[in-house]
This record gives sequence, C-alpha cells and structure tokens, in this order.
Amino acid sequence: MKTTGENSFVFITGACGGLGRAFAFACAERGNLFLTARSAGRLAALKEEIAQKFPHIRIETFPCDMTSADSREALFRYAEEQGFTFAGLCNVAGVDTQKAFEKYTQEKIAFQCRVNLEGTLSITRFALSRREPAFEIVTISSLSGVYPMPYFAIYSATKAALTSFFFSLRLELKKKGVKVTSVLPGGIPTRPDIIEDIKGQGLWGKLSAKSPQYVAEKSLKAVAKNKRVCIPGFWNKVIARVPKIVPLSLRMRFIAHRWSKLEKDAF
Ligand SMILES: NC(=O)c1ccc[n+]([C@@H]2O[C@H](COP(=O)([O-])OP(=O)(O)OC[C@H]3O[C@@H](n4cnc5c(N)ncnc54)[C@H](OP(=O)(O)O)[C@@H]3O)[C@@H](O)[C@H]2O)c1
Repeated sequence: MKTTGENSFVFITGACGGLGRAFAFACAERGNLFLTARSAGRLAALKEEIAQKFPHIRIETFPCDMTSADSREALFRYAEEQGFTFAGLCNVAGVDTQKAFEKYTQEKIAFQCRVNLEGTLSITRFALSRREPAFEIVTISSLSGVYPMPYFAIYSATKAALTSFFFSLRLELKKKGVKVTSVLPGGIPTRPDIIEDIKGQGLWGKLSAKSPQYVAEKSLKAVAKNKRVCIPGFWNKVIARVPKIVPLSLRMRFIAHRWSKLEKDAF
C-alpha cells in the first residue's frame, strides 16, 4: 500500500479508534494518509501526533459521519476537488453494540447497519473511482461474523455480510489490479469495555487477543500478498475452523449462554 506522489494517499476510515490509529501509524511508514472519523478535533490531534513521527509524509483529514449520505458526499467532494487519488483503502470503522435484539431502538438498528455496511460500501465505491493502477483494499470484518452470535446478532450479521461482499468484490476486480483482503480478528484490546470483555473470556480471551499494531501489520502484509482472508493469530485460526467440527446448534447455545450475560452500547 505504497503511495506514489504528492496527491496519492492511503484512505483510512475509523482512524481515531484503537485499531484505526494502529493502521494510520503502520501506513505512515508507507506514504501519505487520508484519515477520517467523526470528530474534527480528534482527527487534528492524531494528525499532529503522526506528523511528529513522520514529518516527511502528507496527512489530510476530513470528518465524516458514515451514517449520513450528505456527510459522505461532502467528503467525496472534498477529495475530488483536491484531486486526491488512492493507493489503498483501509475500512476500519465499525460499531459493536451488544444486547438482546428486543432492546434495540429503531435508530440503533439503522446506526449499526449504516456504519458497518452501508457507509463502508459507499466509501469503497468512491475510493475505487479514484484508485491508482495498483490498489489494495483491507476491510476489518470480525471472527464474530464466522457464525451467528445471539445477543451480538446485528454486529455478527453485518460482519458476515461484509466478509461475503468483499469476497465477491475480490473476484469482480481480480483482473483489474485490485487486491482485496478481509480481516477477521478475534479480540483486540482497544477500548476499556473491550479489554474487560477479553478478561471476562478467561483463557480463550487471552489466547485470542492480539494488539492493534499486530492486527494492522498482519493485515497490510496479507493484502500485499493478495490473500483473500487474514485471521491474525494462531488461536483465532483454530476458532475460525470450529464450524467445520462443532454443529451449529451447539455453537449457538454456547454463545447465547455466554453473551446473554453481557450488555454494552458504547456508541
Ligand atoms: N476491538 C475488537 O475486539 C475488534 C474485534 C474484531 C473486529 N473489530 C473491528 O475493528 C474495527 C475497529 O474497532 P476498534 O476496536 O478500534 O473500535 P473503536 O476504537 O471504537 O473505533 C471505531 C471507529 O469507528 C468510527 N466510527 C464509529 N461510528 C462512526 C460513524 N458514524 N461515522 C464514522 N466513523 C464512525 C469511530 O469514529 P470516532 O472516532 O468518530 O468515534 C472510531 O474511529 C471495527 O470495525 C470493529 O468492528 C474490533
């Protein structure tokens, strides 16, 4: 994901989050950055932090609420007017509400689907329209999308849809110089509530958890090699194989038992 000139960028969504930051620093080693998240203030602070370590690269930011078509359109217009082109896209933004479906409001259903799916696809379509001849897309899906997860059902379903979509897109773009990798991480200790979740999962949580830096580097290496899928960490590869061995009904009962005890809505 190397940028090629002054107006060439790697585009990163969710840049101010725990994993997005790690992607921003990892990609800064490879060239210019175009960063987005919701808060202009947090983006400016991140830009300053990265610029101190990488003074030679160009860093552009634009705040965008991915749930809003108008906000996305404003970002697209800005990038077009500035003449930006993209060497790569890291789809990192995502929201992980966790509770029984009956406790959702209509707004929260739309919010999660729009960030995780609609916003990500919309930005992908735009980035493709301004891509350079060699273009790489990394999308952060989740191991949670490998099988249905009661009490985490919308998150799990949107991540499964993302994985499915990017597997298809990969084939559509195969002969057009575009590499497409879907990343299925297990736990990543980014926010305090996620760190607590990982602790609560005991040994499995500990084995599965990988740092944001580890996940970002593995993802960038995987897309450079044009891997269809990247599952960072040995134990996560094992977990991803569980569906081949354990029947769905058993897995669902295990997940429902475990996850029904947790509830969080960080967004
Ligand atoms: N942490 C884990 O255990 C884990 C495991 C598997 C997969 N993942 C996935 O990894 C990705 C990053 O997660 P994280 O742990 O780094 O979470 P995080 O720290 O909460 O970061 C989420 C990012 O998404 C952005 N975002 C949320 N709503 C948005 C909206 N409406 N418009 C634009 N951006 C929005 C946030 O922007 P603001 O800065 O504006 O809030 C933030 O930058 C997500 O896709 C997540 O599903 C995480």
